[in-house]
Amino acid sequence: MRRIYHEALDSTNLEARRLWRRTCEEGECSRDPLLLVAGRQSAGQGRSGRAWSSPPGGLWMSLAWPLHGGLERYRALPLVVGLGTARALEEAFGLACRIKWPNDILVEGRKLAGILCQAEVQGESALIVAGIGINGNYPAATLGGELRLPPTSLLDLVGAPVDLRMLEDTVVKHLLEQLDAFEPAGLVEGILADLRHRLAWLGEPVICSEPGGRVLAQGILRGIGEDGEVLIEGPAGPFPPLAVGELHLSSAAPSAG
Ligand code: BTN
Repeated sequence: MRRIYHEALDSTNLEARRLWRRTCEEGECSRDPLLLVAGRQSAGQGRSGRAWSSPPGGLWMSLAWPLHGGLERYRALPLVVGLGTARALEEAFGLACRIKWPNDILVEGRKLAGILCQAEVQGESALIVAGIGINGNYPAATLGGELRLPPTSLLDLVGAPVDLRMLEDTVVKHLLEQLDAFEPAGLVEGILADLRHRLAWLGEPVICSEPGGRVLAQGILRGIGEDGEVLIEGPAGPFPPLAVGELHLSSAAPSAG
């Protein structure tokens, strides 16, 4: 796998997509997987069009690879990437990481890392981009921007600056391990069991809403379904499993509208 490092980029996800698109425009879409890492991002992208604050000292990276098979098979990818990231953080620093469905990594109830998976389609070809952002060697209190969850950082949790290159290698190792299992067979038992074990807010009152705020389900978080959907039980019984949406604790939900 080719690795490209930049001191600064607008966004590693954007750059991965641009580089690949260029190869398509030049005649043949690249088939090579790529890892892009930036020291800082000036236009880091978060979920639902939000900005992602990316100062120096964090780990900002995107793993991109050409698609084998249909895009719909990758719906649960953010969970799988989250799991690989959680396992890496656990191996590297002994952190107990929870996964907030579908794509946040929480430690002690605070957000340490976020995942943004995207696809770039050119005719019959497609590129999958798995972007990972981990708050690193700065206090989380210095982070600006639109934060929907209280943040934390490796500096806050570990108590000293960490080796970001070592972390990058550990994340890549765990990601490739998870993808080896997921790509041919989907959410296999080993992945599902660990996701369920790490699910944040289990048994707590939650709201699942569209990015615009429309409430899709409100009730108690009961778990993750076979295909990675979120399972919520309301006063009148379980809601149909939800494949997309944003989860909030009921007490912290933004007002609908
Ligand atoms: C979120 O929690 O909203 C997702 C955040 C994802 C941030 C990472 S940083 C590396 C990659 N490049 C981006 O522009 N975004 C992702």
